[in-house]
This record gives sequence, structure tokens and C-alpha cells, in this order.
Amino acid sequence: MRLDKFLSHTGFGSRKEVKQVLKSRQVTLNGEIVKDGKLVIDEKKDVICVNGVVVMYQKFVYFMLNKPKDVVSATQDNQHRTVIDLLSDKDRAHDVFPVGRLDKDTTGFLLLTNDGELAHQLLSPKKKVPKSYQALVAGIMTAADQAIFKAGVDIGEEKICLPANLEILKVDLDKEQTLIRLEIMEGKFHQVKRMVKKVGKEVLELERLSMGGLALDPKLKLGKYRELLNEEQAELFSKLSDKSQKK
Ligand code: URA
Repeated sequence: MRLDKFLSHTGFGSRKEVKQVLKSRQVTLNGEIVKDGKLVIDEKKDVICVNGVVVMYQKFVYFMLNKPKDVVSATQDNQHRTVIDLLSDKDRAHDVFPVGRLDKDTTGFLLLTNDGELAHQLLSPKKKVPKSYQALVAGIMTAADQAIFKAGVDIGEEKICLPANLEILKVDLDKEQTLIRLEIMEGKFHQVKRMVKKVGKEVLELERLSMGGLALDPKLKLGKYRELLNEEQAELFSKLSDKSQKK
């Protein structure tokens, strides 16, 4: 890896800012002062110091974001703000991407990482990673709907949905609305909205509460994020195959 990329990934800013660091501060590579960002280093073996402090390299980062409405789950978009725009420059330098998508109007738990293998595994339908949602629904959801969801709904895809657990949290007969919690094991396009539509109702508000056994931190306000704790990372990896745990 190039030295400037290494310094950018370890929190010294953009390539331009890193250039300044190299110019104005003492960056050493195995004890020798270096100023050339193009230098190729071995991040696993070489010792890089900035002002005498060793810079530790972290290959992968994992952020839990409470996605607000009106930002899209993409790394780039010509029209809308993306979830990447919510990150600090330092964190953006890790080249993270969202693991799966939440609709523009959906809020809640979104995992951002630069670990492609973990993302791939979490999104694989074979892994059956659980995701839970809370939704405000127009219409009264019933025990019959629970049974339909449990049996697997046909939303017009090649395969019917895997059995999903529907909890009815609150029914408002005056407004004809129901607050539900739904746990699904897949991530089909607009899955929750389409499942609810299939039983003749409509999702008005949707929030993802958890993914792979990790719950959204209630302290995270909309638009805020934090790194996953080590035990949270372990929880995620434990849901997947042995292969992905060897990190
Ligand atoms: N299901 C949906 O319909 N929308 C989302 O954003 C996530 C799951």
C-alpha cells in the first residue's frame, strides 16, 4: 500500500492533507524520515510513526449508523445525500459502503464497512441473517396476517418469502393503524412494504431495529453513527461461517 493511502486510512485526512503531514511533520518509516507519499509500504511489517507515535493499521472498520430519512443507502448519488455524506472525513477515508439497502424513507440500523467478505456473507440469502423492523401500518393487522407471514408470503418473486415473525405491538382502532415488529431472514427489494401490501395494508413508517443479532444503539440519534464494539463485531461474525471469523 502507498504511504499516503496508509496515512489517509489511519486518520490523517485526505491525500492533500496527508501531503501536508508528510511535508511538515516527522513521518518515519522504520526509523527513517520519509516525505514521499508514493512510497510503497508493507502495512503488516513496516513501523510507521508520526511525531514519534506508532500508527497502527486497522484493515477493516465497522460502523453502526442510525440512518435518517431522505439519505440514500449508496456511496454516490447525483441527486440525494448518501449515508457516506454523514461520516467524518477521517471515517470516509476508509472507503466504507452500506451493507445492503434501506429505502430512502426508512430509518434505523445500517451497517457500514469496508469488509467486502463480511458484507457478502451478511447479505447472502443462504445465511438467513435475521433483520427486525418496527413499522407503523395503515390498516389493522390481525392473527390471520401473522399466520400468513409465518407460512411464507408470496410477493411475486421466484421463491416465496421465508417464514417471518410478526408481532402486533399496538392497534389504534380510531386511526385504523397498527404498530408492528417484523423479523425477516432475507433482504428482498422493499420486502417489508411488499409483505404488508400483500395482506392489504400499507407501511407508513419503517425503522430497522436490528441486524444479525445486533440492536441499534438507542443512544444513537438519527444521522449519528459509531464504531462497533469488539463484542458486537464478534456477535456478527458468530452468525456467519468459520471462514469469515478468521479476521
Ligand atoms: N423492507 C422495505 O420495504 N424497505 C426497507 O427499507 C427495508 C426493508
